[in-house]
Amino acid sequence: MSDSLVILGSQWGDEGKGKIVDLLAPDYDYVVRYQGGSNAGHTVIVGNKKYALHLIPSGILHKGKKNIISNGVVIALEELLSEMDKVRDVVEDFEGKLFISDRAHIVFPHHKILDGLSEKAKGKNKVGTTLKGIGPAYMAKYARTGIRIADLFDPNYFRKRLEASVSEAKEIAEKVYNQKFDLDINKIYYNTLDMFEKIKPLVADTSLMLDTALKKGEKVLFEGAQGTMLDIDMGTYPYVTSSNSSALGLCNGTGVSPREIGKAKVYGVSKAYVTRVGAGPFPTELHDGDGQKLRDEGHEYGTTTGRPRRCGWLDLVALRFAARINGMDGIIITKLDVLDHFDEIKVAVAYEYEGAVIRDFPASLQVLEKCKPVYKTLKGWDRSTKGIKKKEDIPKEAWEFIKIVEEETETPVVMLSTGPERTEYVWIK
Ligand code: GDP
Ligand code: IMO
Ligand code: MG
Repeated sequence: MSDSLVILGSQWGDEGKGKIVDLLAPDYDYVVRYQGGSNAGHTVIVGNKKYALHLIPSGILHKGKKNIISNGVVIALEELLSEMDKVRDVVEDFEGKLFISDRAHIVFPHHKILDGLSEKAKGKNKVGTTLKGIGPAYMAKYARTGIRIADLFDPNYFRKRLEASVSEAKEIAEKVYNQKFDLDINKIYYNTLDMFEKIKPLVADTSLMLDTALKKGEKVLFEGAQGTMLDIDMGTYPYVTSSNSSALGLCNGTGVSPREIGKAKVYGVSKAYVTRVGAGPFPTELHDGDGQKLRDEGHEYGTTTGRPRRCGWLDLVALRFAARINGMDGIIITKLDVLDHFDEIKVAVAYEYEGAVIRDFPASLQVLEKCKPVYKTLKGWDRSTKGIKKKEDIPKEAWEFIKIVEEETETPVVMLSTGPERTEYVWIK
């Protein structure tokens, strides 16, 4: 049995994955981002320094760890380089420390433009994307018009593909959105090649690297981005991201076989409540004082976009679904401290739909819209859990909360996170 581990979001993103990956990284040889792109914003706080990582894996702050951006990630090179600059105080040399898949697709400026046009055209039905060009970059990938890192090794080939890609984007803009945009292809071309020169030594066949590492028994920590409920196949479609952000994305995102990947453990990260940024169904969303209190206490404003996050009570119907489709071996509950001063805490254990009680997360948006959460109300603990590190210090009311999460999801809660800092957590299993 390999000791590799997957850390992924069990909700709608921003569960605290970055913090957890950073604190676990010392026990692993590799940390791997396998899907998404700079739509992700993973916060890591070390002492009084705060890092917001978008593309670089959250293991980068530790010495001696190999960090991989594998083929399933879509990479905006300018954002990758600016992020590399931001961690330069800890990383002098990226060679041997950061590896970038030659099969990863590139996000270009025209993808960002199309992201904006698509959102505008949707009007009140917009997804609320991060406008980072993620959807259009994955569209190009699946339309087989995308450009990969490997393509940059041959500037002539890259030039041809870039011209085709920009003219396709212009045609989409004109025909679909009735908009024209100007882009200087030469500028993008030379800019991209310049940026490529800076990362060239980091480019590798990361599928082979990972397969070799796993077969040798090295330990790999896989870092999911977004969350299960934003998964393109299993999330609240169409209010989702454009990649498989559940465990389903691990094989295609790394180029490693299910046989090897299947040996890793999977821990799902869940806040003690729920947040969502962007549009789409959210059965336990609160529009009252409790919702505002969660936002205030939890500082719920997006890492990537600064948008206020929508807040609500913990949804165990969604978490049960996430535990099943990810094959979760354990749950890590983050932001327990945010619930410290509520008299009552609610958790949804089922939904009521047209008079019937349902326990399985439905696919249809129309059904979801009419679902009313069936809540269990628990007594709050009204004392600080901030920074607790010992099991004995967990209030008994918080144990009741944990018990219900475990019962309803049939999955053990293995760790509690009790503050944003690297040191603020406690293993409970
Ligand atoms: P990610 O995208 O899943 O990595 O999560 P984000 O970084 O976008 O959002 C999580 C936010 O919660 C960040 O600001 C973290 O610093 C913070 N955070 C993480 N864990 C905890 C915790 O246990 N308690 C509190 N109060 N904040 C936390
Ligand atoms: P991390 O990794 C929270 C949401 C957007 C929008 C939808 C589609 O920090 O948890 P996209 O730009 O991907 O096309 O937007 O997905 N979204 C996230 N929400 N955390 C994220 O990442 C997200 N990445 C995308 O808000 O609703
Ligand atoms: Mg985030």
